Amino acid sequence: MAGASSFLLAFHFLLIFSQYSTLAAIANYNVQNFGAKPDGKTDSTKAFLSAWSSACASTQPANIYVPPGRYFLSAATFAGQSCKNPAIIIRIDGTLVAPSDYNVNGNSGNWIDFQRVTGVSVIGGNLDGQGIQFWACKNSGKKCPQGATTLAFYNSNNIMINGLSSINSQKFHILVDGCQNANLVGIKVSAPGNSPTTDGIHIEKSMGVTIMNSNIGTGDDCVSIGPGTSNVWIENVACGPGHGISIGSLGWVLQEPGVQNVTVTSSSFTGTQNGVRVKTWARPSNGFVRHIIFQHLVMVNVQNPIIIDQNYCPFDQTCPNQASGVKISDITYQDIHGSSATEIAVKLVCSKQNPCNGITMEDVNLTYKNGPAQSSCINAYGKSFGLVQPNSCLRRR
Ligand SMILES: *[C@@H]1O[C@H](CO)[C@@H](O)[C@H](O)[C@H]1NC(C)=O
Ligand SMILES: *[C@@H]1O[C@H](CO)[C@@H](O)[C@H](O)[C@H]1NC(C)=O
Repeated sequence: MAGASSFLLAFHFLLIFSQYSTLAAIANYNVQNFGAKPDGKTDSTKAFLSAWSSACASTQPANIYVPPGRYFLSAATFAGQSCKNPAIIIRIDGTLVAPSDYNVNGNSGNWIDFQRVTGVSVIGGNLDGQGIQFWACKNSGKKCPQGATTLAFYNSNNIMINGLSSINSQKFHILVDGCQNANLVGIKVSAPGNSPTTDGIHIEKSMGVTIMNSNIGTGDDCVSIGPGTSNVWIENVACGPGHGISIGSLGWVLQEPGVQNVTVTSSSFTGTQNGVRVKTWARPSNGFVRHIIFQHLVMVNVQNPIIIDQNYCPFDQTCPNQASGVKISDITYQDIHGSSATEIAVKLVCSKQNPCNGITMEDVNLTYKNGPAQSSCINAYGKSFGLVQPNSCLRRR
């Protein structure tokens, strides 16, 4: 009896101690204590930046807390250059609202951006990019600013974005550029299917990016992967509306770092323009795309479920020889099934200068109007295994 109660007492002290030590170790910064107003109107940018400066000045792990409510932010850059803190959690229970007048932040390129930060996590939160007037400007053919990406991380390491929702960005919703080790989990992106250049998540010049358990519906690519990117893992993403998951556009410039080791797995595409796409400009370039796996994918009424397009050159831009220099090799398509919205479900248009090599098709079954679909290959070499429908058009070496 006495033994049990002293054990419980000791356990109790242990609990109190561990709670106390956690509290003692984490500094908390509530943006409202820095003057942020949850009224959706008062510009709270300065308050957010002050909370960030305080968290950065502390060397112990810090929480920046955004309570429920709507917070208007004009444009905010969270800079990490002088940040001493390697572990900052920004917990957002509220909604951050951008200016609806695109002249306020449309020229800066970003609405909310992080530069050279390490160990920053953004947990929860709704971001409302208010892009509607900007899209109207772009669609009218008028001269418009470049537009703002809603949330950008530049040259940053060990980033986590978990449970964030982004709606109606002017341009990209989320950008990961020049980063190492970024984990994006439970992301929700929403914008109309006809909103221009509203890519869900764009990655470039980055290494080690994971996107999991996310739902992306938007007007451009659900996920797009630009030059200089490696070790990307995309799992359990529902895409649609949108332009699918794309590697590219690549090969606009001559000297360009390549893309390698990308896996897209267990994901679905519903009513999208593309499923999985590799897209390169028909221009000279020393770039490459290799070691790519697209597997366990479901297509529902997708215009181009499987597509490689190395002849990209819209609007008469300069494509002197109409051939892409980007070398595409070792691409695997495995366990991909569902329906195509066009007759040609598999379209592999590779460069006449640099044919695609080492393409593998395994257990692919795509239908068109409940019947057989077609495949079309140009300069595409590789092998097929198991059931492949439409029949593989790959050439063997
Ligand atoms: C490929 O990327 C994954 C992450 O998606 C990583 O775990 C793996 O080590 C990478 N492979 C190589 C050879 O770099
Ligand atoms: C391919 O998929 C269709 C539609 O799901 C199905 O009816 C058909 O039996 C499948 N073909 C094979 C050979 O499994």
